Amino acid sequence: MFDTILKDYQAKIEARFDIILSENGQLYDEVLSACRYATLNGGKRIRPILLLEFYKLCGCDDDCAYNFACALEMIHSYSLVHDDLPCMDNDDIRRGKPSCHKAFGESTALLCGDALLTEAFSIASKTLGIDSERVVKALSHLASSAGVNGMIGGQVIDMSDNTGADDDVLFEMYRLKTGALLKTACAIGCILAGVNDDLIAVAEKFGEKVGIAFQIIDDILDEVSDTKTLGKTVGSDAKNNKDTIVVRLGVEYCRDLAKKYTDEAYDCLNQFDGDTTVLKELAAYLLERNY
Ligand code: IPE
Ligand code: IPE
Ligand code: MG
Ligand code: MG
Ligand code: MG
Repeated sequence: MFDTILKDYQAKIEARFDIILSENGQLYDEVLSACRYATLNGGKRIRPILLLEFYKLCGCDDDCAYNFACALEMIHSYSLVHDDLPCMDNDDIRRGKPSCHKAFGESTALLCGDALLTEAFSIASKTLGIDSERVVKALSHLASSAGVNGMIGGQVIDMSDNTGADDDVLFEMYRLKTGALLKTACAIGCILAGVNDDLIAVAEKFGEKVGIAFQIIDDILDEVSDTKTLGKTVGSDAKNNKDTIVVRLGVEYCRDLAKKYTDEAYDCLNQFDGDTTVLKELAAYLLERNY
């Protein structure tokens, strides 16, 4: 059942991308091809699904929020394109295929990331059928979550030498580089639905907890999975001498830690009146995933 729900969401999101990123015979089609390559390539679509599920949980029909959901996934996809560049993690495989810069070259990959980020705000601002004040509030949440106080800030910590830094610095990195986009996904679903700020804060808390658990599992998989299953080169963190919580505290301890964060996330959901089954199953799936 959950599997079908996930696949349905993924198919609808991809169909929307196909329209949003259609090539039109212009000189800059090369960048658009790279954008299509970087988005229409089998991502799990966790962030847009979270956004749409929270929107539904708050009593709204999901269709109006699809543009916004795709915009968020475009920002996530851009972050991956740039994250794989030689000057960042220097990774050659993403979602089971050559990373964007391997397929298109570095300058096109760089511009593809720039384009996805910029176009995301254009698409999100074209959200129809939802009160424009809510759309502006959601745009602002998205911008600050993707920016220096959010995902970018986390990537800055990630690129620093964290040898000898307190564990808290690494948790802050998880909270920002990964947690920020997952948190904004949950918050935006609620903002677009027009619920009160207290409930938005609960959704943010859920997203942040899930986000930290998500990055702990990502770091575990980087150590214990294989490249074919993961769709990205395992051992990337070790290759780059990254100091992760998993390196410091070990796989077993970190699995329990990710479970603890997920349990805390479940508790947040009790504050919503609607049906939280899919969100609970999604959080459980993220904990048990193997890619
Ligand atoms: C990978 O995110 C990057 C991190 C933030 C850890 P996902 O695991 O959601 O990647 P896709 O979109 O499914 O490929
Ligand atoms: C990803 O962290 C964070 C962002 C892209 C913002 P990682 O560098 O661990 O992600 P993967 O493992 O390459 O997907
Ligand atoms: Mg990275
Ligand atoms: Mg990486
Ligand atoms: Mg990783």
